[in-house]
Order: sequence, then C-alpha cells, then structure tokens
Amino acid sequence: MSTSRKRLGVFTSGGDCPGLNTAIRAIVAHATLSYGWEVLGILHATQGLIERKAIPLNAEGLGGMDVLLNMGGTILGAINKGDTLGHADEVIAGYYELGLDALIAICGDGSLKILHQLAQKGNWNFLAVPKTIDNDVALTDRAIGFDTAVNTVVEALSRITSTAASHDRVFVVEVMGRTAGHLALYSGIAGGADIILIPEIPYSIEGICQHLQKLRDRWGRKFALIVVAEGSKELEEDANHPRHCSIGQYIADKIAQYSPIPIELRVSVLGHIQLGGAPMAMDRLLAAGMGNTAVDLAAQGTFGRMVAWQAGQVVTVPIADVVAKSPRHVDPNSFLIRTAQGLGIYVGDKPMLPYVDPTLCRDQVICAI
Ligand code: F6P
Repeated sequence: MSTSRKRLGVFTSGGDCPGLNTAIRAIVAHATLSYGWEVLGILHATQGLIERKAIPLNAEGLGGMDVLLNMGGTILGAINKGDTLGHADEVIAGYYELGLDALIAICGDGSLKILHQLAQKGNWNFLAVPKTIDNDVALTDRAIGFDTAVNTVVEALSRITSTAASHDRVFVVEVMGRTAGHLALYSGIAGGADIILIPEIPYSIEGICQHLQKLRDRWGRKFALIVVAEGSKELEEDANHPRHCSIGQYIADKIAQYSPIPIELRVSVLGHIQLGGAPMAMDRLLAAGMGNTAVDLAAQGTFGRMVAWQAGQVVTVPIADVVAKSPRHVDPNSFLIRTAQGLGIYVGDKPMLPYVDPTLCRDQVICAI
C-alpha cells in the first residue's frame, strides 16, 4: 500500500436495484469524512477497470448526497453480462493502474463469484457489499434492494386485486428472483396471494386447480391471485410453449386447459419495474450500515470479506464461504412457508409441518425469516 492518501475504489456490478446509490453515498461519506481516503467511482464495474474509466467522489461533490439517498439505479452504471474472466489480466491491471489501495464491490452472487477469482489472482484488497432483489446471496438474511422490490410487488398485487375482484378473474402474476423464490414468497404473503409458486417447492396444476375450486366452494371467491416466481419450474417444451414462454403464461394456459370449473385468466409479468424506484427505509438502513462497515474494514486493512445482515446486525463473513454457498434458496421448512400454509395459501403439494418445538424456551429463537 502507498504511504500517501489512501485511494478506495467502489463500483456496482450485476443488475441494478434500489439502494445502490445509498450505499455509494455511505461509502463516500465515511471513507472521506472519517478516514480522509480518496474515493474513485469506477464506471460500469469491471468494464471501467478495463477501460480505466473512473470518477472522483467526495462528500462535497456529491452535494448530491441527499439526492443519492432517494435515487434508484446507480450513478456508476452497472454490468451483468460479458466475458469478464476472459479479460482477467486487463481487469486486474486496471486496479493497479488506477492506483487503488482497496476496492469495494456492491454486487450480487453472480458477480461476486467472478470478482472473488479476480481478487485472488490479482492480489487485490477486496471487499463486498451484497445487493440483489433476488435476496439469494448466501450468509446474509438480506441484500440491498430486496425490501424495496418486495414493496413494489406488494403494491402491484394490491392494484391487481381490485381489478381481479371486480371482474371475477384469476390473475397469474410473474415476479423476478432468478432461481430463488424469496421475492415471490415474501411479496405473495404480504400482498394477499392465494397461491405462491416457487422453485424450491414442487407444485402441480392439479393442486392449483383444486385450490381455486376450494376458494369458490368454501368462500364463494371467484377471483384469485397466483404469484409465480420466474424460476419456478422448467417449462415442458411443447408446440404451444417454446422455451422463452413466460412461466406465468405457461401456468395460466395449463390452468385453462385442466381446470374443471370455467375460469377467466389474465397474466401480468411485472418485469423490470421490480428493479426501479427509490429505496424504501429498510434498504436505506442496510445500505448505510453495510457501506459504513465495509469502509471500516478497509481502514483496518481487513480484506476478503463481505458485509452481511444476520439476526438484525451487520456482521462480516469470508467471501470464499459466500461464494461456496450461493445462491441461497428458500428453505421449504422455514417459518415463512409454514406461515403461508397457516394462512391457507397453496405453496405446493407439501404437507404442513408442525409449528414450534414445544421444548423451546420463550427466549429462544424460534424462527429465522
Ligand atoms: O438477478 C437480478 C435480476 O433482476 C433477476 O431477478 C432477473 O431475472 C434478472 O436480474 C434480469 O436481468 P436483465 O435485466 O438482464 O433482464
């Protein structure tokens, strides 16, 4: 490390999400004001390292700072594709040519796998802050962006419910999440879904149809909300459903085909609205806490770690462990799955599990959401 003023690099890698600018803001504020470091914002993550494209960031120049708190997206740009490892030498050299003493990546698990390899090969002083609306980064209960995406989906579900009820329609609402069902599960429960389909739990079209019929027979409910995670199931390829067909459309078509009762169906794919918008309070708090802690680690000279949120606290974990354990999936035996079942939501063809171990003391943790 150089003995002059230390220089910290920061970039955002992978898909964007709410809270990235809030994390950048926290990192810049703490690094410059508390430790007197210089901060370089690297544009478009590893692409910026290859092209040596970076901008100086400081608390005054971000006058700016309050605007960042509210802004969706990322002022540094992001990148979620490309053959980064194929350009490893150029990326690694960028870290040294930009004169960095340390680098903080705000990223999801896909980017982290690649960056971890680069950091090891290039001997970088590297730290990570987790972000993703998929919430599938291992060893952290929350990643920046997830809470806001859940709120966005809940808002959409509430709007869809009123039109579904007015027309006695069944809506299939497809949400993002890649291979994990966290976003569908959280938003489905909070948004009043009748059926939640996630990749981690097997379901059947027969089970879905029976549940829709039960809603009618028991409660006279002719409308319903089905929340389906985009990665819910490999589509069976047939003439009507090529591979690129959305899972939401696929489920709707199958219900129309097999339902014993007539059902009017509509499909709504929420898509990229889930990535946009101003971060909600929880994501702002996470971004502030995680950004601050990452800067403290850099100042202490501790590297190779990701900041994480566990049991209501910011902690740090080895990046190697995060990479080995990601992506993190929904535990089919978790408290939230049992909660959904308890609410009468169909979450797949799975018997309801016993609730709480009666031998647990009152002050023991009985659930982990
Ligand atoms: O991983 C985050 C995510 O938003 C997924 O939920 C989604 O499948 C994907 O990225 C969207 O990627 P793109 O913006 O490249 O279509």
